[in-house]
Formats: sequence, C-alpha cells, structure tokens
Amino acid sequence: MKDLFGQIAEQKDIATGIRILTDKFPGAVAFSTSFGQEDQVLADIIWRNQLPVRVFTLDTGRLFQETYDLMDLTRARYKQPFEIYFPETAAVEALVKEKGMNSFYDSVENRKECCYIRKVVPLNRALQGTKVWITGLRAEQSENRHDMPALEWDEARQLYKYNPLIHWTFEEMTAYLEKNNVPYNRLHDKGFVSIGCAPCTRAIEPGEHPRAGRWWWESSQKECGLHAS
Ligand code: ADX
Ligand code: SF4
Repeated sequence: MKDLFGQIAEQKDIATGIRILTDKFPGAVAFSTSFGQEDQVLADIIWRNQLPVRVFTLDTGRLFQETYDLMDLTRARYKQPFEIYFPETAAVEALVKEKGMNSFYDSVENRKECCYIRKVVPLNRALQGTKVWITGLRAEQSENRHDMPALEWDEARQLYKYNPLIHWTFEEMTAYLEKNNVPYNRLHDKGFVSIGCAPCTRAIEPGEHPRAGRWWWESSQKECGLHAS
C-alpha cells in the first residue's frame, strides 16, 4: 500500500486526488483562492464535483476592482460559498499611521511587512484547524516553485499542502478555462498575468517573465511569504 505522498504523486485526476484527501481528513481540507487563472481552474473542479472543501480568499484591502468583480461573477456562476478573510484592523491602522499608505515602495522590508499584515496573518487564521491546504501553485511560475511537489508537508503550519496544478503548463491552464467557459479576471485581457494587489501589480510586455509584473520595482525573489521556500 502506497503512502499518501505516493498515492497523490501518481494521481493525474485532480478531483480524485482531492477526494482521497477529503476522505482521509473529513472537514479539514481548505482551498485558498486569489481568483487567479490557476485558482479558477481549481474552483471549477471543486464545485463541479461537489467536493467537500472549504474555499476562502484573502482580501488585503488593496485588490483591483476587476478582482472584486470576478469574485461576484464567480459567486453568481457557481452559487457556492467562499469565505473572505480581512487583515486585522488594528494592525493595518498601526501600519498606515506609522508609515503611510504606500510604505511597500520604500524597501523590501516594508513591503514584506505589509504582505505579512495583509496576507500572511489572515492566511494563518484562515488555515486554523485545516489539515490539507490546496493551492494553485505552478512550477513554471518561479524558480522557488520549480521543485515543489504536488503534495508536501508544511512543517511551520503543520499541515499537508496540495498543489494539484504544480506540473500544469500555462497553455494547459488556459485551455481548461476556455473549454469550460470559466469566468476570469478582465485584467488578463489587458496584459496582466499574475495578479495580486493593485499597487503592487502591473501588466507585462510580451516575452517578459510571467511574474515580472509583481513588485516590479524590486529585484527580490518576489514572494510575499504565503509560500516561504
Ligand atoms: S503570491 O505568493 O505571489 O501572492 P500567487 O499570486 O502566485 O501567490 O498565488 C499562488 C497561490 O497562493 C494561489 O493559487 C492561492 O492558492 C494562494 N493565494 C495567493 N494570493 C491569495 C489571496 N489573496 N487569497 C487566497 N489565496 C491566495
Ligand atoms: Fe501590501 Fe503590496 Fe503585499 Fe498587497 S502585495 S499586501 S499591497 S505589499
């Protein structure tokens, strides 16, 4: 009998992979969506197959209007519940009182502080009691993600992290979205690829790296701390 890592590693069908995990950890499997293209594929699979997975998103308070529009479009299309987690009010109030509204442009440390308050702390809250965290990570997205497996053990958070699309190509993903007529962020039609917060995301030029539009003024590894390597 293969262990869980073996079972999931050889599982090509995502719905079956998720079902193995929901059977093993009933009521403790959660999917985090940023409403990016990858996440829309997974939401479609989860809801189409009525998988018992809790779905949540992190609203940093700085998202694009187009992302909020997509949240509502997705709600109308699938009629399925998802939770929206916000940052702690007191932490945001203290941050902007001390450093202003746009401190992320001043240094990598300030940027990571904002990501920590607006994303990482709410993520950890959203994952409380969760045994399996499903994400839309793909290996192609960045060097950090190249060697990530489909199923990994997150030691810091003490849970399994399942990245079902880890080996999917960009083309496979867009083909799925088109074939299934899945709603997508209108910003993709304007040259945006990887979409995060509005002040920290720009469109990219043809040939640029897909994550070049994230924190474009930095030469850092362009990670916000949700997926520490
Ligand atoms: S990030 O670390 O650079 O912000 P990215 O945008 O590539 O992450 O998304 C990778 C995965 O992280 C998504 O598929 C999703 O599972 C999770 N994620 C990122 N941002 C959010 C968010 N705002 N809310 C919920 N999950 C998110
Ligand atoms: Fe703050 Fe920008 Fe990080 Fe969003 S992406 S949490 S605005 S630093």
